[in-house]
Amino acid sequence: MKVFNKITILLIIALSSCTKEKVFSESDIQIIPKPTELILNKGTFQFTKDTKFIIANETQKELLNIFISKFSTVAGWNLEVLETTPQKNYVQFLIDERLENESYNLEVNTDKISIVANGNSGFIYALESIRQLLPIDIERSEMVSDVAWIIPNLKIKDNPRFKWRGLMLDLSRHFFDKEYIKKVIDGLAMHKMNVLHLHLVDDQGWRIEIKKYPKLTTIGGWRVDQEDKHWNAREAVKANEKGTYGGFLTQADLKELVAYAQLKNVEIVPEIEMPAHVSSAIAAYPELSCFETPIGVPSGGVWPITDIYCAGKENTFQFLENVLLEVMDIFPSKYIHIGGDEATKTNWKTCPHCKKRMKKEGLHEVEELQSYFVKRMEKFINSKGKKLIGWDEILEGGLAPDATVMSWRGIKGGLEAAKQGHDVIMTPNSHCYFDHYQGPQNEEPLAIGGYLPLSKVYQFDPVVDTMSAEEASHVLGGQANLWAEYIPTPEHSQYMIFPRLAALAETVWSPKALRNWDDFSKRIATMFKRYDYLGINYAKSTNLVTANTTVNLEDKSVSLSLQNEFTNTDIRYVLGSSNIDENPIKYNNPIELNKTTIVKASLFKAGKPIGKVFIDTIKFHKGVAHKTEYLTLYSNSYQGAGAYNMVNSLRGTKNFHDGQWQAWLGEDMEIVIDLENKEEISEVILGSMENQGPDIYFPTSVSVFVSNDGNSYKEAGKIERPFQHNSKAELRDFRIKFKEQAVRFVKVRATCLEKSPKGGRAWLFVDEILIN
Ligand code: ACM
Ligand code: ZN
Repeated sequence: MKVFNKITILLIIALSSCTKEKVFSESDIQIIPKPTELILNKGTFQFTKDTKFIIANETQKELLNIFISKFSTVAGWNLEVLETTPQKNYVQFLIDERLENESYNLEVNTDKISIVANGNSGFIYALESIRQLLPIDIERSEMVSDVAWIIPNLKIKDNPRFKWRGLMLDLSRHFFDKEYIKKVIDGLAMHKMNVLHLHLVDDQGWRIEIKKYPKLTTIGGWRVDQEDKHWNAREAVKANEKGTYGGFLTQADLKELVAYAQLKNVEIVPEIEMPAHVSSAIAAYPELSCFETPIGVPSGGVWPITDIYCAGKENTFQFLENVLLEVMDIFPSKYIHIGGDEATKTNWKTCPHCKKRMKKEGLHEVEELQSYFVKRMEKFINSKGKKLIGWDEILEGGLAPDATVMSWRGIKGGLEAAKQGHDVIMTPNSHCYFDHYQGPQNEEPLAIGGYLPLSKVYQFDPVVDTMSAEEASHVLGGQANLWAEYIPTPEHSQYMIFPRLAALAETVWSPKALRNWDDFSKRIATMFKRYDYLGINYAKSTNLVTANTTVNLEDKSVSLSLQNEFTNTDIRYVLGSSNIDENPIKYNNPIELNKTTIVKASLFKAGKPIGKVFIDTIKFHKGVAHKTEYLTLYSNSYQGAGAYNMVNSLRGTKNFHDGQWQAWLGEDMEIVIDLENKEEISEVILGSMENQGPDIYFPTSVSVFVSNDGNSYKEAGKIERPFQHNSKAELRDFRIKFKEQAVRFVKVRATCLEKSPKGGRAWLFVDEILIN
């Protein structure tokens, strides 16, 4: 009887573990970036407290420890590393020198896992893939019970598409410390990114200790605290004002970071700006500038940048060589980035030292003097066995013989450099500037401008279609740049990096043929959960719902469509005053509206609203869905919603790329709206925006003319609004009231500011003309 019982119990255990055995399908494999080749097999491997790791040499122990410590946190295990192979339940590292750097072959079988690579970089990435095959609980920071640490049997052959997979952190505009930078390195490694470019020098702070020039950090590392003011509204500071806001990394800090990054296959590339973006250095050592005028470290925006190093004096070059000697001693990187962007060289034109240099070297333009500067620095850098990188401005006046170009003003500089046979790293501001907004501007924290949602990052490609194979072979890869003018905290920095880094990672690692937004959008949902457990403050902007309208001319109604950045999402909405969780309607087709209506919508997951609720009042007015004639046509670059933009009832946001804004460049707007019948009207409202950074200004006047035949018009009203300085992006309705009258045609003219205060043409932006 007793024996029988035992068998029964064993049977139950066997049965229950059978039913528990997880069967994996392709959709369970959610690795980002997507591996080059993957074959899923039957069966699974289970990590247990007895799983062993078999290594080929001691250095592998360190990188394994990172992986093993995750199991010690979540399972309390102390997994062992051996040099002899047991019977089963082990992970083995095997070296095959025929494989490329960073590539790996991973084979998971029920008894064992084998990883083949040519060295540490491949082993590191194989472990990162195993991490993403494991249940997401592996990312937790406390013990968890009831989790079976199972991964599917499979074969992966993986290798990166590009050698250079980078992220730039700007430590100058706001300082970020060593601990935060380590977290960024962790994030990079998790996404198989391998370059951390540190922007260590800029006008607003010098962030690297240089022993020979201590004032670079005692003076240049600190600015007068005006953090309470908008970046571009901070007051000029005097040379002797003491800075209290800032910080810097010591050489010991940086060496620690280099070693930390090496274990994760991340190379830190230092950028030491020259000849511009160096006010902090000139504040410390004014003799480095042409006229030696003492300045303070600026607290905020500086434009144009005229306080630059003198290119005539020998001591500038001595200084820079000494600085770079210390830099090269800290960073083993093959590359030294010398900046080179955005130098306004007016001082060079009048400085006696610079003039003398130009004469002696036979240079005619200051661009050639910058080219001389960069070439001279390149010679020095090359003489130390290193290579120079610069922003695409280094093309101007002639490229240094062996320079690598970082293309940021779009892809043009990259194309040109590749044509000239130079290596190129693509970081176009259109797809790689992570300081730009990633969702509707009204819903996001203040950013510098631009619009770069996750889906647009995913469209990035470092190789341009028009490149020849030879040119394409010069593209080392791509990189995101996170300028930090508007990013004061680590939390905010993470918000801007994640999840866009995941999209970028796939564009620079995975084969282009595997790129698939729908598939990525499923995998990123799992990555979000990993971020949650890791405490990463990622942006939830992809949860937002946005709207578009089209007008129906026959019945004067409006069709409102709702969308989300991801496809096939569950959007639900309510109309009127109810809340989004009160019987919301599932959105399938555009919603027909024929009167002013409040619309609320949200993305739903598991039957619950997630993310911010979209709320808008679709405002009907007498012009809605009526014919509009443009007497002056809007710019090709800002076509808004097309022919009925001004009468589609939908308003624009502060994001001037949101599809609701039409714009005129240096030209007045003039539009006629045909009400088709005589209507009693007494008010016209013109919706406009001002954002002086990118040269967008409110109209200087708005006039309304009315007519019944469409030929002879009389002025009904006009308002004037002269130019005023405005440091914020602002939306404003210009309201023209007049005596009530019955009219059919309404002509509205808005005058564009004649000239931008910066010298060029001004933009005029309009989103709607409301007639009441
Ligand atoms: C840059 O964005 N000025 C390189
Ligand atoms: Zn000079």
